[in-house]
Amino acid sequence: MATHSGGLTEAEGAAAVRIRNVVRSFGQRTVLDGLDLTIAPGEFVALLGRSGSGKSTLLRALAGLDHDVAGSGDLTSPEHVSVVFQDARLLPWKRLLDNVVLGLDGPLAEERGRAALDEVGLAGREQAWPVELSGGEQQRVSLARSLVREPQLLLADEPFGALDALTRIRMHTLLKRLCERHRPAVLLVTHDVDEAIVLADRVVVLDRGRIAADIPVVLPAPRRHGSTEYASLRDRLLVQLGVDLVEEDSAA
Ligand SMILES: Nc1ncnc2c1ncn2[C@@H]1O[C@H](COP(=O)(O)OP(=O)(O)OP(=O)(O)O)[C@@H](O)[C@H]1O
Ligand SMILES: [Mg+2]
Repeated sequence: MATHSGGLTEAEGAAAVRIRNVVRSFGQRTVLDGLDLTIAPGEFVALLGRSGSGKSTLLRALAGLDHDVAGSGDLTSPEHVSVVFQDARLLPWKRLLDNVVLGLDGPLAEERGRAALDEVGLAGREQAWPVELSGGEQQRVSLARSLVREPQLLLADEPFGALDALTRIRMHTLLKRLCERHRPAVLLVTHDVDEAIVLADRVVVLDRGRIAADIPVVLPAPRRHGSTEYASLRDRLLVQLGVDLVEEDSAA
């Protein structure tokens, strides 16, 4: 675990992520304001919130990438954390396999890298250059690079935000399958309410520096847009995000 504050109860000690009273400020602006959140091992949590509400700030805090920001509070995350961003951030001068195994040690690194590329549907492309790939393919390499490290926690900041709608749906299926196989805890930041409902065990909404809603997704699989339960959860989340559903209906 990255930060220990001690005094965990047995149940809390089993958590993958434990955030208590976390505050993060940029100058006078307090973005996270006493935020609490717990994520269980293997649990998939989607994080929604308006633009500027602090989602990326929270993710960076968990990833230990926020040395430039003032803050306080207790934040416990596992030792093995992987991060996926909206852009794949591949090194253009390295071939795909080398991108995937970058920093991995041991004789089995290459074998594991090949298996990871296979898992994301890119077997045979090991020696390709990043520039030869579409945006969706690059993002699949980025997922392979994360999962080859067998993280206990996967942090994803709008990983599919730049992809077209069809590719995004395919990526949802892929991510779901990969998570079922590798069972990391996941914190997925998204603006897409449907993405959150389709993928997550729980959806949380960040507002005014805190978790304003924490809603388990208890829908039968497959989670289809047409069902009444789906529609009512979707509406509930949209209202939490400040969308005026009456206005939306009359505009349609
Ligand atoms: N390095 C920084 N310096 C100053 N202010 C920052 C910095 N990073 C973020 N902020 C501010 O903190 C607030 C939260 O930013 P953050 O990027 O976490 O929002 P977000 O919820 O991820 O938004 P989006 O959905 O648009 O990605 C914003 O008001 C932003 O301007
Ligand atoms: Mg962001």
